[in-house]
Amino acid sequence: MRIGMKEFTLISEVREELDKALKNGKTIGFVPTMGALHKGHLELIGRSVRENDITVCSIFVNPIQFNNPEDLEKYPRNLKQDGKMLLSHGCDILFAPSVAEIYPPEEKEDLKIDFGTLEQILEGKFRPGHFRGVAIVVKKLLDIVKPDRAYFGKKDYQQLMIISELVSRLQIPVKIVACETVREPDGLAMSSRNMRLTIGERKVAAKIFEALKQVKERSATQSIGVIKKWAIKHLQENPAFRVEYLEIVDKRTLLPLTKWNNRQNALACTAVWLGNVRLIDNLELF
Ligand code: PAJ
Repeated sequence: MRIGMKEFTLISEVREELDKALKNGKTIGFVPTMGALHKGHLELIGRSVRENDITVCSIFVNPIQFNNPEDLEKYPRNLKQDGKMLLSHGCDILFAPSVAEIYPPEEKEDLKIDFGTLEQILEGKFRPGHFRGVAIVVKKLLDIVKPDRAYFGKKDYQQLMIISELVSRLQIPVKIVACETVREPDGLAMSSRNMRLTIGERKVAAKIFEALKQVKERSATQSIGVIKKWAIKHLQENPAFRVEYLEIVDKRTLLPLTKWNNRQNALACTAVWLGNVRLIDNLELF
């Protein structure tokens, strides 16, 4: 364990600290999060620690990416415990700003990027404005931290693509590193929202990944249409589940596939309500 992770809430302070590191020629790795940290986040932190001299983690529950006020209100917040986990995993700097620090009341939000269909399909369709909110905050955080590398999970595959697009369109000099999804032993993708599941819901939640694995298995022999219908029906046989979407898409564009022409690029992705918790997951099929 390293002694003394530095914690900042002000942009000016974290900048001052990072300017010192830059002057000393240190490389900076950055892991943006909304806190309530779990092993998925810590995997990103670990990779950043291995690949950079200094690792910065931000914890900021970004209000403008929540399209559902209840989700924002119920989003778990656990800064003290998060700090301990970060320290024990080798994080050097924790940046946990207030909403007013990131969004000064006098400033107007603006992001002149049209992500096209990428922000309108899948998550974008069911969470209007979500990716714009993500892109705005990630741009601000990258401007503040100015990292050499920034780490994102494939668990949020569409978010990863939005951020790659943001960085390439605005020519932000950072390498975006994509990290594999970390799962619970029963296969459920780790997520801060999992802690909002009841015991009963948590037991059946693993069926989401089981369904995705079945999609992968069936892709060898069945058509996309048949598999999609089967998977949605299979999940909804359990009354606790409400499937918002389950799609098989091209992982480079996220546009739906209708035939298995581009097998090596196929990705199955889904969003499922379990009680009043919304969970997402995806699986590369080849
Ligand atoms: P958050 O949900 O806290 O996730 C922070 C990072 O951890 C994201 O890159 C996410 O993809 C990754 N992550 C979450 N669960 C994971 C898992 N099971 N395995 C691997 N990586 C996982 O995503 C956000 O916050 C926000 O939208 C943010 C990018 C911070 C902007 O507000």
